[in-house]
Amino acid sequence: MKIAVIGLGYVGLPLARLFATKYDVIGFDINIKRVSELNSGLDNTLEISEDLLKSVLKTGNTNKNGLLCSTNIEDIKDCNYYIVTVPTPVDKNNKPDLTPLYKSSETVGKVLKKGDIVVYESTVYPGVTEEECVPVLEKVSGLKFNIDFFAGYSPERINPGDKEHTVEKILKVTSGSTPEIGIKVNELYKSVITAGTHLAPTIRVAEAAKVIENSQRDINIAFVNELAKIFNVLGIDTQDVLEAAGTKWNFLPFKPGLVGGHCIGVDPYYLAQKAQEMGYHPEIILAGRRLNDSMGEYVASQVVKLMSKKEITINNAELLMLGIAFKENCPDVRNTKIVDVISSLKEYGINVTIYDPWVNPAEVSHEYSLKTTRELPSTKFDAIILGVAHNEFLSLDFKSLQKENSILYDVKGILGNHVDGKL
Ligand SMILES: NC(=O)c1ccc[n+]([C@@H]2O[C@H](COP(=O)([O-])OP(=O)(O)OC[C@H]3O[C@@H](n4cnc5c(N)ncnc54)[C@H](O)[C@@H]3O)[C@@H](O)[C@H]2O)c1
Repeated sequence: MKIAVIGLGYVGLPLARLFATKYDVIGFDINIKRVSELNSGLDNTLEISEDLLKSVLKTGNTNKNGLLCSTNIEDIKDCNYYIVTVPTPVDKNNKPDLTPLYKSSETVGKVLKKGDIVVYESTVYPGVTEEECVPVLEKVSGLKFNIDFFAGYSPERINPGDKEHTVEKILKVTSGSTPEIGIKVNELYKSVITAGTHLAPTIRVAEAAKVIENSQRDINIAFVNELAKIFNVLGIDTQDVLEAAGTKWNFLPFKPGLVGGHCIGVDPYYLAQKAQEMGYHPEIILAGRRLNDSMGEYVASQVVKLMSKKEITINNAELLMLGIAFKENCPDVRNTKIVDVISSLKEYGINVTIYDPWVNPAEVSHEYSLKTTRELPSTKFDAIILGVAHNEFLSLDFKSLQKENSILYDVKGILGNHVDGKL
């Protein structure tokens, strides 16, 4: 048995590493730099430590189990399981962009053989595996689906930056294109996922399950974001309210915040798109998206109001933004909503300095044309926004960064009550 994992990012690498503890695994990616770094033990997403990665990397002996990363299609020719973990983004109009799925399916199609199983892990709307990816596999390989080759879908549930809920510790949903293949795919995952598996009856059920997990989270956060806006107008502390309500056994503990990243802020659009295609126009899902997408501008306006109340001159004020990653303790800046806060602040004429010890300044410059620093600035600011709850920020001496008349705004609500404002 030989497994190819196609796409070695936040999802693919941890999975390839895990399978490599028991199987012969080839990690395939089109990013040459990423592959060469991985083969030397370096994971710049910081999900897998150098020691852990090196413990599974193959060194010379190609017969034993372990991981070899490659950009060469020849290296995946003799695999019999292909697991696809490529990105599923949206375009600038929030429409699903399936290009990486089509391209990677073409790659797999070129090496597909009789009896092979292709399992997709990327988050999609129900139907993508069988209606979009399988036709590409059939066309390129010339083989017949469910006769010559088979498919599966097993959505990923990892949480980047979370060193506790690692891939093997999260129960995994599995599925197959026939009942027999479902069992085979399930057995494969069961052999490495210590938390166990749940075999869904069909691929479409498994696809739908994943996309609603993230949509549910998005809607719940949108609800508390709306509450935060209401309580702000009423002059009530949202966190005090949530703490009090949270004493009821069935009150869900969601917190207000910026919903960024490429999962929760993106996946509901996949579901909405499919629904719209079928003539149903989702109301709650898209309302949640609109609300969450408006929070960056809202935070900026709240900060400007607080500054104005303290008679701090807004135009050319100096503001320190703490964090630009889309979430705490991880270097991922994809679809970070901190950039919405920053662009709103800039519209008010405020100068923003961004400090984030986790992210790669070159990546932020490339993605957003913004300058960030990994060094804590030594100057003092008119305003500070704690945007991301990186551990480093918990022990910061905020006073040393603040001018005498300044404000401190806590988006994440982690600094207690000694702040001028919070969501
Ligand atoms: N990161 C998460 O927290 C998370 C959690 C659950 C599910 N997902 C889903 O998993 C999928 C992958 O996400 P990710 O965060 O790992 O993305 P990523 O951007 O970190 O990694 C994707 C990798 O795929 C590679 N790639 C792109 N096109 C390719 C191709 N044609 N052939 C081979 N390699 C290709 C890229 O070079 C990159 O290394 C997405 O659908 C995402 O929604 C992500």
